[in-house]
Amino acid sequence: MTQINAKIAICVEGDIGFITSDNAPVNALGIAVREGLVEGLKALNEDPAVKAIVLACAGRTFFAGADITEFGKPRLSPTLQDVIAALESSPKPVVAAIHGTALGGGLETALGCHFRVAVPAARVGLPEINLGLFAGGGGTQRLPRLIGPEQALEFCLSGKPVSAKQALELGIVDAVEEGEPATIGAAFARRVIDEKLPAVPVRDREERLAATRADPSTFDALAARLTARKQGQDAPQANIDSVRRSFTMSLDDALAIDAVANRELMSGGQSRALRHLFFAEREATKIPGLPESAKAREVRKGAIIGAGTMGGGIAMCFAGAGIPVAIIDTTQEALDRGMERVKANYATSVKRGSISQAQMDQRLALITPAVDRAAAADADVVIEAVFEDMAVKKEIFADLEKRVRPGTVLASNTSALDVDDIASVLDRPEDFVGMHFFSPANVMKLLEVVKAAKTSPDAILTAMAVGKAIGKVSVLSGNCDGFIGNRMVAKRSAQAERLLQQGAFPRQVDAALTNLGFPMGPLTTNDMSGLDIGYSIRKRRGTPFPIADAIVESGRLGQKTGAGYYRYEPGDRTPHANPETQALIIATSQKLGITRRDIAEAEMVERLLFPLINEGARILEEGIALRASDVDLVWINGYGWPRHLGGPMFYADEAGLPHIVARLREFAAETPDDPSLRPAALLVELAEKGQSFAVWQQGSAA
Ligand code: COA
Repeated sequence: MTQINAKIAICVEGDIGFITSDNAPVNALGIAVREGLVEGLKALNEDPAVKAIVLACAGRTFFAGADITEFGKPRLSPTLQDVIAALESSPKPVVAAIHGTALGGGLETALGCHFRVAVPAARVGLPEINLGLFAGGGGTQRLPRLIGPEQALEFCLSGKPVSAKQALELGIVDAVEEGEPATIGAAFARRVIDEKLPAVPVRDREERLAATRADPSTFDALAARLTARKQGQDAPQANIDSVRRSFTMSLDDALAIDAVANRELMSGGQSRALRHLFFAEREATKIPGLPESAKAREVRKGAIIGAGTMGGGIAMCFAGAGIPVAIIDTTQEALDRGMERVKANYATSVKRGSISQAQMDQRLALITPAVDRAAAADADVVIEAVFEDMAVKKEIFADLEKRVRPGTVLASNTSALDVDDIASVLDRPEDFVGMHFFSPANVMKLLEVVKAAKTSPDAILTAMAVGKAIGKVSVLSGNCDGFIGNRMVAKRSAQAERLLQQGAFPRQVDAALTNLGFPMGPLTTNDMSGLDIGYSIRKRRGTPFPIADAIVESGRLGQKTGAGYYRYEPGDRTPHANPETQALIIATSQKLGITRRDIAEAEMVERLLFPLINEGARILEEGIALRASDVDLVWINGYGWPRHLGGPMFYADEAGLPHIVARLREFAAETPDDPSLRPAALLVELAEKGQSFAVWQQGSAA
């Protein structure tokens, strides 16, 4: 074994040369790897004993992609395109031996090789679209040559990896074999040498392009269909344009344009936002300050208290991850209703083709309904998901604690109650934690893990691990009213109400955010959830919203009553303008003595978003959230913030903190009765020092 540099080694066995990359954890194609690959390849090509070359990786995966930490920085040579060009023009055939995940630049590197073999567990994909990019290292040019432009387009726009078996069927890899990557690579190289298999570089395979070249109509129709729901995002169209170049121009011309186009995307805000989220998701799993001995407890069985919509959804999450779960309610009738709802949800998924009938049956078999809480006795985590009544919750937890083993995590799905108050009835409050799911729980990705005053590090880590196991993005939150997300959303609701009072109608308020890319506006969302929820909270707190309250008091509770901010036809969720509500809005403005005015959309955006960003800053300064990127994840995964806008705190950095502070000061001056509009101390401090949420860290002086 000869070490080329710290990351790349070569060796020769008989007439086969090996290049091995060892760049933990995921063999990202950073500069040292790229340099080593070019040099290692050159050395093996110069070695007369070598007749074929195997490219493989040590550790858990083949190259998982370009090094994302290098994105947006000056390019260092050799670039990925240079490395791939060197592999493709190698006079000796190169076999890529793939294990783990060959993603993005990793798959592109393999496409630069003459042959590809993979172990059965390997997965390959071009996830660049998830980072606001396309596979600019030649993936969008070479993949169409292997599998045809239409299939390549679907592959690039989905961003999802496929299994080795699917890759073989598609024609991305040439063979799938059990064994060590280098061993299966060597076996294939043996065949290449002995059987003199023609080593045709992918760039020269034009036959799969011919049909689309002759008639691109299928490609065009597919492109239109695949981008229909991706308005406002740059990367989908950039992917289409690039794949189209594969059959409209030469590979070299296309690569030259690709390099420029991808660099433009990379320096743009959308890709920056998506890269931010990639690292945010990984960062959120790390909880600083816990003792080293702290560890997540193993969770082999779950139990859910409450078979309502929420409880059923949470049970589905466990079953989906293959974890047996008991679902417990007080009456057989409530249980039956809950299980019917679960079955209906699964049946819809089967009908849509997202799961098979066999998967539905397997999942249902993992959910055990029970009317006796004794069914929770052997669970490792019990999640209470009953209605928001403190006395009821206290009774449940006091009883549960006697039934389960010490160390079993006892979690409440409360969104509105004080977790310390709930924990006060427990002898083992260290085992108690909040686990706030979002509705529908089987769909929404967010889980707020809420730390009560006495929650133990092990319980926190267990709740985070459960979240990961059931496919959630888990974010740790401290205990406060509304936790991270709902506390911030309350500020947006107050502004939506104020905009209605001052001159806007529901459709305009909603359009301000849907035009930014939110899937639904705040008022449509309220209509969907039911306007009575907010109403009763406001009554309890004594914080009236004159318009929202008047709508509820007129008997309009949202979709379920056919009218709220909007009007709904029976059996249809489409919101229509509601003249009666509009009349009520105008009358309320009058009653409040407000002269209605036209409000520009840009002003509405700032009025809806800046106050919630301000609350996010308070949440950070109080230590409720660990980091700004955690707040972003809450909004992306729980509140429909468009991914390509990176979340509220990222958005704030991009909009410029001094601008936000200045606007908040104006809002606060106009609305002296709402002190929450005054800019948070942290926001002011960062703005004055020219700093950003991106670099701010908890505990550091800003
Ligand atoms: N560049 C730089 N760092 C990367 C990286 C990349 N392409 N891919 C992963 N990492 C880092 C992660 O940030 C993480 O770092 P940390 O431990 O300091 O937090 C570490 O590698 C492990 O990644 P993680 O995602 O936690 O591991 P995993 O086993 O769950 O998943 C992958 C592995 C490869 C599936 C996943 O990391 C991934 O999807 N990577 C990105 C692939 C990609 O988009 N490639 C296209 C770029 S061209």
